[in-house]
Amino acid sequence: MKIVAIVGSIRKDSYNKKLANFIQSRYKNHFDMEVLSLENLPMYNQDIEENPPQEIVDFKAKVKESHAVLWVTPEYNATIPGVLGNAIDWLSRVDKVMIGKPSWIMGASMGNLGTVKAQMHLRDILFAGGLSSPVLMGNEVYVGACHTKFDEQGNLIDEPTVLFIDSVVNNFMMWMRQYT
Ligand code: FNR
Repeated sequence: MKIVAIVGSIRKDSYNKKLANFIQSRYKNHFDMEVLSLENLPMYNQDIEENPPQEIVDFKAKVKESHAVLWVTPEYNATIPGVLGNAIDWLSRVDKVMIGKPSWIMGASMGNLGTVKAQMHLRDILFAGGLSSPVLMGNEVYVGACHTKFDEQGNLIDEPTVLFIDSVVNNFMMWMRQYT
């Protein structure tokens, strides 16, 4: 199974990037995951949506070829970061590559609530917004106080969180049977 992870932070030392990298490496026997960076995506502009820059063509192709998308997002100002909204705007238009494509969501923040509000908004955008992406319900991964849960090398070292993610990945794999 091919999965793309879309990380809503372009920060070099992003905890969400570390979380995506952790998922990619720990569950490599479950799925083949590519972590996509949003760093080089131009801003969405309706004037060029029919003939977008190559970065957008490539980005949309990777999403289209995947069986599912894992969204790993920080919370900015109680919602999703602008870079993630920009990516979603591109994905929602013209060939609409997210329609029917399964999504699951995780997030890490320094606050204790671990991106609850951002994920609530993202779930609504994916499912009820223009994307029509079925979203894995329940199994919500909120990595709060994330600065205390990774080691110097970027490994997730908080055992309860790791065990919980193991169970979520298991549930995700079962849920995906209906789509693959
Ligand atoms: C934040 N942060 C934050 N945290 C949170 O729990 N709720 C919030 O609403 C916000 N808002 C917010 C706005 C902006 C502009 C920034 C830069 C930060 C803190 C955030 O959780 C922290 O910076 C994370 O480390 C961001 O994720 P990455 O970049 O480490 O993946």
